[in-house]
Amino acid sequence: MEIFITKDYEDLSAKAFEVMGRVVISNPYAVLGLATGTTPLGLYSKMIEDYKAHGTSYAHIRAANLDEYKGLPKDHPQSYAYFMRENLFRHLDIEEGNTNIENGTAQDEQAECARYNKLLAEMPRDIQLLGLGSNGHIAFNEPYTPFGSETHVVDLTENTIKDNARLFSDISEVPKKAFTMGIKQIMQAKQILILASGKNKAEAVYNMAHGKVTEEVPASVLQLHPNCILIADKEAASKL
Ligand code: F6R
Repeated sequence: MEIFITKDYEDLSAKAFEVMGRVVISNPYAVLGLATGTTPLGLYSKMIEDYKAHGTSYAHIRAANLDEYKGLPKDHPQSYAYFMRENLFRHLDIEEGNTNIENGTAQDEQAECARYNKLLAEMPRDIQLLGLGSNGHIAFNEPYTPFGSETHVVDLTENTIKDNARLFSDISEVPKKAFTMGIKQIMQAKQILILASGKNKAEAVYNMAHGKVTEEVPASVLQLHPNCILIADKEAASKL
């Protein structure tokens, strides 16, 4: 794992754009694995700025997101589909049909997971962007998820529900389950870019980068990826 420590969140986002921009500019047909959450917002702003300033085109880019809350329709303001549309896709020339995410309202969970597995198999990711959960999760692969997992439905941990409650008006509104891409599929990306910002990520960053590779800390699997870049701001890197 190659580690970059930046002085603050702004620098983290600029450095992340260097990595993501390289992929998108060098290959107009690239396949991006994308993440939601607070951490990638600065990177997404930089991608939008670059698109507006330099016309970097996403017309042939395809994207697959990591995860979606179970039960939320794609137009629900807290759904990850909505998040991606509002914070990235609608500002770029990406085709809506080239953006992919699990269907949170699918009635048949197994069929939905099978559909997403097939889709991921058909579109290998050139780069997979990740945020890091304070409990070491990647996507919604919570501690003790098998490293060989594919798309599945998870029961979110209390810790994750608490962390994500800030985006809902009340903690009782946070869905208890989610669809998530599996760890095996995350690891299949040619390159992984994981971002971590803030003091509450410091322990997870340490365990991910220097701890034992164990299913107890899902992100520790990234130590086994041949091309993984971690960008952490000073606070998130404070225990390294
Ligand atoms: C989001 C995702 C999650 C987040 C993680 C960190 O699609 O898969 O694993 O990346 O929970 O979230 P933030 O960035 O909000 O701290």
